[in-house]
Amino acid sequence: MNEIKYDIGLVGLGVMGRNFARNVADHNFGIIGTDRDKDKVDALNDGSDPARILGVNSIGEMIPRLKKPRAIMMLVPAGKPVDAVIDELVNQLEKDDIIIDCGNSHFTDTNRHANDLAKKQIHFLGVGVSGGSEGARKGPSIMPGGPSDAYDRIKPIFEAAAAHVNGDPCVTYLGPGSAGHYVKMVHNGIEYALMQVISESYDIMKRIGRLSNDDLANRFTEWNQGPLSSFLVEITSHIFNVRDNETDHYLIDMVLDAARQKGTGKWMSLDAFELQIPIPTIDTAVSMRYMSALKEERTEAARILPHEDTESIDNKQEFLDDLQNALHFAMIVSYAQGMSLLRTASNEYNYNLNLADIARIWRGGCIIRSAMLEDITNAFNDNTKLANMMTAKPFADILKKNRSSVIRTITRALKNGIAVPGLSSASNYFDSYRTARMPANLIQAQRDYFGSHTYERVDREGTFHSEWSS
Ligand code: 6PG
Repeated sequence: MNEIKYDIGLVGLGVMGRNFARNVADHNFGIIGTDRDKDKVDALNDGSDPARILGVNSIGEMIPRLKKPRAIMMLVPAGKPVDAVIDELVNQLEKDDIIIDCGNSHFTDTNRHANDLAKKQIHFLGVGVSGGSEGARKGPSIMPGGPSDAYDRIKPIFEAAAAHVNGDPCVTYLGPGSAGHYVKMVHNGIEYALMQVISESYDIMKRIGRLSNDDLANRFTEWNQGPLSSFLVEITSHIFNVRDNETDHYLIDMVLDAARQKGTGKWMSLDAFELQIPIPTIDTAVSMRYMSALKEERTEAARILPHEDTESIDNKQEFLDDLQNALHFAMIVSYAQGMSLLRTASNEYNYNLNLADIARIWRGGCIIRSAMLEDITNAFNDNTKLANMMTAKPFADILKKNRSSVIRTITRALKNGIAVPGLSSASNYFDSYRTARMPANLIQAQRDYFGSHTYERVDREGTFHSEWSS
């Protein structure tokens, strides 16, 4: 029998999986997919050319129809579902086959799977895929990690399916082991910080500037044409235009102010604590999601601790320009914190990451794509040892220039009782990073005073203890 053999398999035909399968098939690769949900299998077969794209009802049906050595992608939720699919696959695969986890798995799970599968000589790639369902269909940013020879085998498929910026695919091999999933985790942490500072800007414009939803839509549209140009600013401009189907309000005003999370931002904060790298704007963004979830408590506190009336703005143009500059500042700082964690993680976990490449493949397809990623790419290309991108000239110039706008914006917000933890943590991060002598000398003195923990001196080597109380 001359049965068609497919180039790649896919387990998980949710909206991301289905869209990614169609994207792969559009680029002339044969893909065969399966899902436990028969409706999802049927949806994949609906109107497709079965020689290019086919849905089948089980992993068992899929495996014999793949070209050898086989490559199978998974797009299933992180955690137990990934474990379960790998357990099922592993008994049916052979030496040299590749399993590719394209979900948001925790990097330590990826290490575990890679080690277990290596014992059976099955390759494992942990691949971050960003861009949501639309990205999966039209071209996501793809962040692969694992054995490089295994990556080389699926590289043509990923390069064809990825987003392209000026002809350059938004995918590249990132490093061994869990490098791909680590980079995706950091992508998501930066995503949290950007969303937090954009939301604070909205709050300031709405509550101090008293901008209507139409004004907000216009403002974000205008900002998206300048240095803030980014996917998140763009979708924000669209959000303020959408009317609710159920009422005569704008939809945004009917959405509950309690943000959920699947956990990747928290994972990044936890690992940054482990690696002792400060990423306060990302930590704050995670905490503010928790704060948002305390809806009932906040509502009660608002009754007991009411806000005073907000002041009116005399010079609206200056107010908005300041805010744009402050947001620009905070966006740069958010990327800077993410890149600084990647730099340390690269050494700690032997990923050997190329930070310029990472910024380059984030320029298109992913949720944090923005105009400034071009400059971030250049900064790390110009100086591969760059410790923090805030010190690279183009960013240093903007941060210094926008500093006064940041101060005015934060001051206005604080005076009006509007919480701006993202914007102010960005400002504090910048100010502490540029402080050659921090007050940590006092912390050391206190530790030595109460616990004889010793301290180091500025003028000679060694550790010292003093009797501070005598
Ligand atoms: C992406 C997104 C994607 C997802 C986040 C949402 O890059 O396409 O980051 O991975 O939308 O997981 O994360 P939270 O549910 O944690 O907000």
